[in-house]
Parts: sequence; C-alpha cells; structure tokens
Amino acid sequence: MASTRTNLTAAFVMGLAVVTAAVELTVWTVRSSSVYSDIARYATSQADLAASLIAESAEGAQPVVIGPDTAAQALVITTRLGAMLSAFPDYVTVLDRGGTPIYRSPASLRLSSDDATLLDEQIANLPTGGPPGLLSLGRLDERLLLIARTLSRPGGMTVGRVVVGVPTVAATRLPRQVSIVFFIVVPVMILVAGWIAWMAFGQTAQRLARISHDVAAVSDGRSLHRRLSMDHAGKEFESLVSTLNEMIERLETSFMGLRRFTADASHELKTPLAVLRADVERAMTETSHNERLVALEEALHETTRMADLVESLLTLARADEGRFDIHREPVELRPLVQDVYETALILGEGAGVAVNFPFTADVTVMGDPTRLRQLFLNLVTNAIKYTPAGGKVDIGLGLHPDNVTFAVRDTGIGIAAADVPHIFERFWRADRVRSRMSERGGFGLGLAIGQWIAQAHGGTLTASSRLGRGSLFTVTLPLAR
Ligand SMILES: Nc1ncnc2c1ncn2[C@@H]1O[C@H](COP(=O)(O)OP(=O)(O)OP(=O)(O)O)[C@@H](O)[C@H]1O
Ligand SMILES: [Mg+2]
Repeated sequence: MASTRTNLTAAFVMGLAVVTAAVELTVWTVRSSSVYSDIARYATSQADLAASLIAESAEGAQPVVIGPDTAAQALVITTRLGAMLSAFPDYVTVLDRGGTPIYRSPASLRLSSDDATLLDEQIANLPTGGPPGLLSLGRLDERLLLIARTLSRPGGMTVGRVVVGVPTVAATRLPRQVSIVFFIVVPVMILVAGWIAWMAFGQTAQRLARISHDVAAVSDGRSLHRRLSMDHAGKEFESLVSTLNEMIERLETSFMGLRRFTADASHELKTPLAVLRADVERAMTETSHNERLVALEEALHETTRMADLVESLLTLARADEGRFDIHREPVELRPLVQDVYETALILGEGAGVAVNFPFTADVTVMGDPTRLRQLFLNLVTNAIKYTPAGGKVDIGLGLHPDNVTFAVRDTGIGIAAADVPHIFERFWRADRVRSRMSERGGFGLGLAIGQWIAQAHGGTLTASSRLGRGSLFTVTLPLAR
C-alpha cells in the first residue's frame, strides 16, 4: 500500500497537471481563433487590394493575356499589373467572366498539379463575397483560406473574379517559444512543485511518526506518567498531541485508582484473614471448652465480615463493568422506609440514639427495591454509627414537583469540611486506624456503593456536614412517570 506521503504528492501533481493542461488548452484555443480571424481579415484586405489594382489598370497598356470576350468586356492583365500582382506573397488567381483563370501568382504556379486542380475546383465553387472558404492541400499542414472578390467595370458590368488564398499554418502550428513553455518549462515546473510537496508532506509524516513513537513509549501502566512532546508538533498536531495527553492523563488517573483499589481491597482482606487464622489456632490449642467456643465465635464473626466485604467488592466491580443488576419496578417508598426505620430503631436503641420518622404521604419511584433498601440502610446505620449516645437521627421522605428526596439528618460527630469531598471514595474513612479497631469499623465502601445506586436510578446522593455538629445525607430520585 502506498504511503500517505506518496498518495498526497501524487494527488497534488495530478491536480497541478490537470489545471495547467486546462490553462494551456484555453490559451491555445483563444490564440488560434484570434490568429484565424487575423488571417481572415488579412486575406480580405489582400483580395480588396488586388481587386482595386486590377480595376485601376483596366485601361490602356498592352494586354498580356486576353480572354475570349469582346474588347468591352475583356479583362486585361497588363505587364505592369502582372508585376504588381506577383508581388503578393499569397495565392492569387484572376478569372475572366466565363470563369477561366487568366492569371496565377507565382505561389499558385509553384503548386503541384494535383493541388493546382484542387485549388481550381474550389475557386470555381467559391461564392463571391460570401464567407471565406477553407481548402486543404495535399501536404498535411498546408491549408488555405480563400476569399473571392467580383471585378466590375465602372458601368457595373461584371468582368471577372479575383480569388486570394492565404495559408493558415500560422494558426494551426504553435510558435516555438510557446511549445517550449508548454512541453518543457511547464512539466519541469510541475516536477519541481511535486518535489517540494513531497518534502513538505515528508515533514508532516515525520511529525506523525514522532507522535506515534511517543505514544508507543507510553505502553504500560508504569509509563503512564509520561506525556507526549509538543515540540515541533505543528499547529494541527498540537491539538492532537494535547488530546492524546489528556487521554493519557485520564488513563493514568483511572489506572492509579484501580491500583489503589486493589491494594486497599487486599489490605482489607488481609486483616480479617489474620484474625481468623489467630482465632482458629486459638480454638485448636485451647483446652477449655468455653474459651474454644469464644474463639470460634470470633472466627465466625470475621468470616461474616469478609463475606460482606467480598459482596461489596463484587457489587462495585459489576458497577464498574456497567453490568448494573438493577431491576426496575414501581416501588412504594413509604413501606420501604418504614422497614428501614424499624431496623434503625433497634440499632438506635442499642447505641442510645433516638430515631424519628414522621408520617408522610406515599410516593412511588421506578427502581430496584433491594438496592434502594441497601442505600437507605447504609445512610441510617452510618448516622447511628457516627452519633454518640444521646444524639438523634431524623429520617425524612419528601415529595417535590419533579423528584423525591430521602434525607437522613444526625446530630453526630460530623465530617471535616476538607473530608466531605472524599467520603464517596472507595475505602475512604475518617481516621482509618481508629474506626477499623473500634466497633464502628466499616470498610468505607457503603457510600461509594450508595452513590452508584443513586446514580443508577438517575438520581444523586449528596452530603453536607459540620464537624462536631452532625451531618445531612440526601438521596434525590426522579419521580416515576
Ligand atoms: N453520618 C455520618 N457522620 C459522620 N461521618 C460519616 C457519616 N457517614 C459517613 N461518614 C464518614 O464517611 C466514611 C465513609 O462512609 P461509608 O458508609 O462509605 O463507610 P463505612 O460506614 O465506614 O463502612 P461501610 O459502610 O463500608 O461498612 C465513614 O467511615 C465516616 O468516616
Ligand atoms: Mg457505611
């Protein structure tokens, strides 16, 4: 396959050749038609001149040739007139009234006998005063333009005809300089232009090659920090390079996110596994039955925790893949929230936190009841988890003209303003170490999953909080149409 450089150069040269050929053709046509009309004008004036010369010398002088007509009608070519006519460079023929040629100029006399016969025939058929006739002689490039004029006496009597033929070679043959320009200078110019285009396209090809070389260097996750060079990229390629750089940056961000996610996930699994292992070992070595039971119970607890973590990771992995296992159906929110509220009451009782859910009208949304329940429950458990005993949690369901809100407000520990943007990140927890060790310890995945659930329903999950004062989490869902 030909390179783009070759294709572009070929197209350029071809375009240039077609354009110059068209220009040459136009110049050529215009020029020949103007030369042709010049010749026609010249032939006409020569014919008029010959006719008036013959008319002027009609009287006196010794006849050289006398036609068969009577003296009054006779057309006489005197020696002087003959000499004058022979000074014409062209083909001049004078005919008497009957159409018999009585004078031929030297050029006509030099014609071959075939051509002379042709000329005579043409002259006999040529209408006087009509448009000029064209005659092709035996020699290929010899064409004559013929003009006829009637010769008459002062009384108006016609005594004969004069026919002048002028060669048209000048109109059909290109002058030497023009042929040199057309056939040598123009092709050389096209070649030079083609060469310049080839060089220019070569530079473009080089730029592209440099960019693709740079892209090839960013081949794996470890080289994603590299950026393509803008130097010598040229105007158009600068935007290509910056687009590619933006793409690499996005790749780098998501690659780093992925790497952090894997690292965090392995880390989170490592801890319960270590605890599990210690518990099992303890159960095996413990002699007391009760102690053994306690160890096994702890092991069971860690197993459940790990199962929860794996379940959450799977959910997020599926969400990332775009395989939403969201089954949409009309969901009545009030009973669902009532259910969440009842669970929250039990949890709150244990933590010494009061939970309220004022009566509200029912609203219906299109969604997945299991996922929505998971989302609401996480918000409510978070609120109870992060609210010290004595605080309170308010659950609210609101119906608005074009959406529905589910809000959880608590009077808990709150979140620092700088942390609020991070709470939806995977594995993010305020004060990681303490929260893992304390009974509050979660994985920091609940809000990430919650945000995905809200977005998969075409809604949003937002948070506002003040450290030490409490937080407000709001889910907004579109109304069922
Ligand atoms: N109501 C709240 N008040 C104060 N901090 C909160 C509240 N809700 C969430 N947070 C903070 O945001 C972090 C992330 O919450 P998220 O629900 O994602 O994780 P988690 O509750 O720690 O663990 P998981 O939900 O995975 O069991 C929490 O660790 C906590 O620091
Ligand atoms: Mg949570």
